Amino acid sequence: LARGYHENVISHYESPRNVGSLPKHDADVGTGLVGAPACGDVMKLQIRVDESGIISDVKFKTFGCGSAIASSSYMTERVKGLTLEEAGKIKNTEIAKELCLPPVKLHCSMLAEDAIRSAIRDYRLKRSKLTEGQKSGFIDVTQSVISGETVATAHPGM
Ligand code: FES
Repeated sequence: LARGYHENVISHYESPRNVGSLPKHDADVGTGLVGAPACGDVMKLQIRVDESGIISDVKFKTFGCGSAIASSSYMTERVKGLTLEEAGKIKNTEIAKELCLPPVKLHCSMLAEDAIRSAIRDYRLKRSKLTEGQKSGFIDVTQSVISGETVATAHPGM
């Protein structure tokens, strides 16, 4: 890494935390995959969310510059133990400040902000689909119980 970078960046760049992947088909995992239009770098960030809505595990893989790697590494440490709401509020300016990124590297921290938001969105989408699946499962059961009667409309309250 070039001279002039703050030690926080160098630390996260040289020994990035939480590198790796989570199984993306798990129901409690959200995957964010984003790219930076400015340079073409790509970041994948995944969260695992426990039953109380807390981020219990985070992993990332970044194909990008040192600042992007440092930003994603920082982000994984920052969001662990937070609720989705809290994690979704983290701004790239906070990351840039913590890592003392120069202005020309601001878009690298933006990638980490985009990635966590995208992971949260993916997780929520997955959950809502799952809930819908459970609901339609419930309707099926209801229909089979009402034998001989055609239930054409959805169950009230669905
Ligand atoms: Fe592309 Fe940093 S130069 S993310």
